[in-house]
Amino acid sequence: MSAVLYQIYQRSFADSNADGIGDLRGIIGRLDHLEWLGIDGVWLSPVTRSPNADWGYDVSDFCSIEPDFGTMEDLDLLIAEAGTRGIRVLLDLVPNHTSDQHPWFLDSRSSRGAARRDWYVWADPKDDGSPPNNWVSSFGGPAWTPDPGTGQSYLHNHLAEQPDLNWWNEEVRAAFDEIIRFWCDRGVAGFRIDVCNVIIKDAELRDNPVATEDDDFEAQLFGQRSVYNTNRPEVHEVIRRWRSLVDDYREPLILLGETPVPLSELSHYYGNGGDELHLAFNFPFISASFECGVLREIVEQTEASLPPGAWPAWTGSNHDMFRFPTRWAGDDVRKVRLALLMLLSLRGTPVLYQGDEIGLGNTKVEHADMRDPLGVRYWPYYDGRDAGRTPMPWRGVPGGGFTEPDVRPWLPLGDVAACNVERQRSDPGSVLSLARTLIAVRREEPDLRTGSYRSLAAPDGVWAWMRGDRHFVVLNMKDTRAVVPHLDGTLRITTDGSRLDEPVRGELALAPWEGVIGATTTR
Ligand code: GLC
Ligand code: CA
Repeated sequence: MSAVLYQIYQRSFADSNADGIGDLRGIIGRLDHLEWLGIDGVWLSPVTRSPNADWGYDVSDFCSIEPDFGTMEDLDLLIAEAGTRGIRVLLDLVPNHTSDQHPWFLDSRSSRGAARRDWYVWADPKDDGSPPNNWVSSFGGPAWTPDPGTGQSYLHNHLAEQPDLNWWNEEVRAAFDEIIRFWCDRGVAGFRIDVCNVIIKDAELRDNPVATEDDDFEAQLFGQRSVYNTNRPEVHEVIRRWRSLVDDYREPLILLGETPVPLSELSHYYGNGGDELHLAFNFPFISASFECGVLREIVEQTEASLPPGAWPAWTGSNHDMFRFPTRWAGDDVRKVRLALLMLLSLRGTPVLYQGDEIGLGNTKVEHADMRDPLGVRYWPYYDGRDAGRTPMPWRGVPGGGFTEPDVRPWLPLGDVAACNVERQRSDPGSVLSLARTLIAVRREEPDLRTGSYRSLAAPDGVWAWMRGDRHFVVLNMKDTRAVVPHLDGTLRITTDGSRLDEPVRGELALAPWEGVIGATTTR
């Protein structure tokens, strides 16, 4: 639980065979970077076969490797090579839906009497031909697509190419038990579970009510309060089933849920007495503005609501939400450093997204280069998620060290000269060096690894907290200097790398957007 995790969006991580697509051998070639940085575990976006309507999140075979990424042997080798470096590998499990090309769905849609008909959610359209109920897809539009062959409609919470499985069906549950065992037996460290709060829907398919202004952002979708198609109470039964399954393994395995739910719901996903997820992504935090009061409030509420022993997960970027260096920090390097210090010193598991460690911001992707189906569908109103998915800049050369110089990567590279791993690695004052130091100090210091969180009183615009008995973290989240009273100790890390070991006597002065970690002497 004291690990630092790292999300690899492997299509954009490292390309070993010059086809412009990142792959498993590419990851193996870059494990040294992750070991050097101090990463304990990586989560790979889906590695399984996919027609790529939604870039891997439309799975057509749950126990295979997508040929773009390599072979099963490559994955075995990756798990082994990562293991020798103390890095464990988590896979992405996508239980809510399959690809419409999955043999299960091909069978299901073949006739009303098909063996797997009931593995998906089918319903009759209304008499006037309109969809069976008012649910909307989280990607926009009705969540139902009519199937002329059998005269019914099937449910999809995302694209029509991603039909939702029917989690009321025991055979579906049993099939996923097998899938989970298949990967655990290969030595994976666990799973990030895609949209794990939506997998089960109201059995009666009741209409969602209209959302009101009082509804939390996470509780509504396109004007509806999503009460009947998300966060159904029965989802917890399924998660408990998965938990007991992975608990049977000798090596401790991790279930990390994608849980875009309001804070009031988040704690439920940890279960009673720790019988559900080990970690649940905190979407109110990820989607919050980078403001002292806002973030502190979310962290305090999270700390107050999680059951005893539960461990929060903190993340700023992922392949859906864009990169925090742009989103939170507006590409202001002071704020990028502050955000990294925050992520790596809250109580909980930080999950960095590839590129966070070098402060990589979003890359503008032109319409002609867009690959995300949402960008393609909604442009020019919405550019989709590609800006946070462009290839990792390893070096400031053509191809960016991601691929060969003469190869066109699947998504464009940004300005690789401006921000890349190689250059920052040799610069002790770089964002990368700060990230590495933060991870190293966290690893050495039990307070920072596992110590409790307690907010400290601080002036406006300053967020300060204690970790464990002895460590304080202070972030000045404003454009002016700040002075924080009643602190004594020694600074251990500061965001700009200066003032190391500086004593603090009675008060601490901070530059605009400066953050520090220190150890108290007198507390
Ligand atoms: C999750 C994934 C996202 C995908 C969606 C549908 O939110 O992170 O990338 O589009 O699920 O599978
Ligand atoms: Ca490749």
